[in-house]
Amino acid sequence: MDVHRRLLSTSADYVRARDLIENETMRLVRGATGRDGVTRIPVVVHVVWNTADQNVPDAQVASQIEVLNQDFRRTNVDVDSAPPAFLPLASDGRVEFFLAETAPDGAPTTGIERRQTTESSFGDDDAVKSYDSGGLDAWPADTYLNLWVCPLGGGLLGYAQFPGGPPETDGVVILHSGFGTSGTAAAPFDLGRTTTHEVGHWLNLNHIWGDDGTGCFGTDNVSDTPNQGGPNYGKPTFPHVSCSNGPNGDMFMNYMDYVDDAAMVMFTAGQVARMQACLAGPRSSIGAEEPVPSG
Ligand code: ARG
Ligand code: ZN
Ligand code: CA
Repeated sequence: MDVHRRLLSTSADYVRARDLIENETMRLVRGATGRDGVTRIPVVVHVVWNTADQNVPDAQVASQIEVLNQDFRRTNVDVDSAPPAFLPLASDGRVEFFLAETAPDGAPTTGIERRQTTESSFGDDDAVKSYDSGGLDAWPADTYLNLWVCPLGGGLLGYAQFPGGPPETDGVVILHSGFGTSGTAAAPFDLGRTTTHEVGHWLNLNHIWGDDGTGCFGTDNVSDTPNQGGPNYGKPTFPHVSCSNGPNGDMFMNYMDYVDDAAMVMFTAGQVARMQACLAGPRSSIGAEEPVPSG
């Protein structure tokens, strides 16, 4: 949200783009006119490391791609831990991810590029997204999901840029120890869910509590998520009631809350409609759509 507010206050283009995107999203969600198949998105992982342990191995990168594919296809094995009241809403996001096989210049690539930096840690000021400030430049954001992995300061696990922002900073940034499920990944953020959450923002999802502090007036602009006070942390027990949303209370097991990795297990149908509207609208140039499975 800091990045969002920074762009709102510095870029009139961003303000205009966000308005247009929200209108288009409402129109597409209402008309259910998004993409109908599964979209496969090429990912480039920019590993920016200072000390050798931060240079996450290829296997850790692969473990993160696997988590994304489970979480965005509702094939995560822990989805059944959602309470019966919410489980029927848990939906297939119809998005898959793979490491890019072709670089912007047409050359074959592993989809992973690495750089040692003299910066001991980064913040949410986007320095990691540019070679000149110690990071690595984005690949064209209209065709790749850019994912930076690096040391982050200030307790930040990761951050994202919503659609509608500048292409040179488009993508998500993830703390190396909150990335993937092996290597440097550390509990309780070692199940790859920080990336799931941030890619949710990249596909235009808002926080489930509506980003109004702990008030009851904010909204995530999704109709099937309960109105919720503030963020939940740790591993809450069901039900956690706020804003008179009983008996079922907050949908704290949603990827767009702030609970531990082990406690977040689902996107709703309404969130999927919003992400698919993003793929039909502001991110229409990204990813190849596979035909709808028949039968
Ligand atoms: N941007 C959020 C943060 O840095 C991400 C929270 C992700 N939560 C999680 N359980 N992985 O706090
Ligand atoms: Zn967030
Ligand atoms: Ca709220």
